[in-house]
Amino acid sequence: MELKEENIRAALKGVKYPGFTRDIVSFGIVKDINIGEDAKVAVSLVLPKPDPELEAQIRDSATKAVLETAGVNEVEVQITARPPKAPPEQDQAQAKAEKQAKLPDIKYYIAVASGKGGVGKSTVAVNLALAMAKKRDRIGLMDADIWGPSLPTMLGTKDRPHATEENKIIPLKKHGMELMSIGFLVNEDETVIWRGPMVHGAIKQFIEDVEWKETDYLVIDLPPGTGDAQLSLVQTAPLSGGVIVTTPQDVALIDVRRGIQMFRKLNVPILGIVENMSYLELPEGAEPLDIFGRGGGRRMAEKFEVPFLGEIPIDPRIRIGGDQGVPIVESHPESTAAKAFFEIADSILSSIDAGK
Ligand SMILES: Nc1ncnc2c1ncn2[C@@H]1O[C@H](COP(=O)(O)OP(=O)(O)OP(=O)(O)O)[C@@H](O)[C@H]1O
Ligand SMILES: [Mg+2]
Repeated sequence: MELKEENIRAALKGVKYPGFTRDIVSFGIVKDINIGEDAKVAVSLVLPKPDPELEAQIRDSATKAVLETAGVNEVEVQITARPPKAPPEQDQAQAKAEKQAKLPDIKYYIAVASGKGGVGKSTVAVNLALAMAKKRDRIGLMDADIWGPSLPTMLGTKDRPHATEENKIIPLKKHGMELMSIGFLVNEDETVIWRGPMVHGAIKQFIEDVEWKETDYLVIDLPPGTGDAQLSLVQTAPLSGGVIVTTPQDVALIDVRRGIQMFRKLNVPILGIVENMSYLELPEGAEPLDIFGRGGGRRMAEKFEVPFLGEIPIDPRIRIGGDQGVPIVESHPESTAAKAFFEIADSILSSIDAGK
């Protein structure tokens, strides 16, 4: 039987990208397969960034997988570290992006993640950034949730950003922060369908092609989950720290572990866990109402030995503020929820300062 490229590709499909459930072919890192004389196979792989340990692991398992393919005599796996080749229609944009590929002068990238959607990650990202902006200058906020951008609504911004002559996007400004969201670029009812490589490109461009001029601390609202989009982002931004948002219910807490694992795998220090919708404050004197089982976030933090940053109560003003574009830190700075955000902002700023 003649040895074909597709046999080799099929064998490589059995090789998982370390730490992920997806294989290296679907990850897009297989650049070239060459079948030479005497069934000598050369496979060339491109990693998104240099990582000797990852290289060694992938080289080992790819070599094994190819050698197990019927008809293969010898195999050479070559690994280089560069962004994977984009599909043709993206070449131009990618080439342009690469030309300008220079990370802005941002000093701290703080990612806000959650294993599960709907836990209030965007609410925390927005209020946290705003609380930080009340304490320090040069705070920026980037909505990297390319599937469900919420910054325009949460901050009540309908403006569209302009571009500089060098084609860099100028972030919007509100509440003293520089802001960027895919939601500023597309209409609310437009659905953007993202394919794998575009996700990587989009998030990368959001960091590189935006003229973050007045930002030293960039708070990033990640898309919910702990999958490839997050991986893409982490590969393009030197994240200084990650914050994990959860609600107290068990279903959300299970995913905290995944969030922690994601940051740890990528060597991003974990700034801590925030428990949102912890409890409901009742009028004077009454004990707060424990709706979802307050305390789960703190327990997870202890279990995984990461800081616990604070509890945010359920407060209808948070939702109303979010829908009307005025975050609670701005509208009710004296509320328990806003105070919790200020304390979390303090803890984060002091951990960042301590790590200087
Ligand atoms: N502590 C809170 N009290 C009351 N309402 C809240 C609270 N936190 C979040 N909400 C509301 O819950 C909804 C979901 O919050 P948010 O959009 O921040 O979640 P998310 O985790 O970013 O969701 P997604 O996964 O869709 O991005 C919003 O309507 C928000 O206003
Ligand atoms: Mg969100």
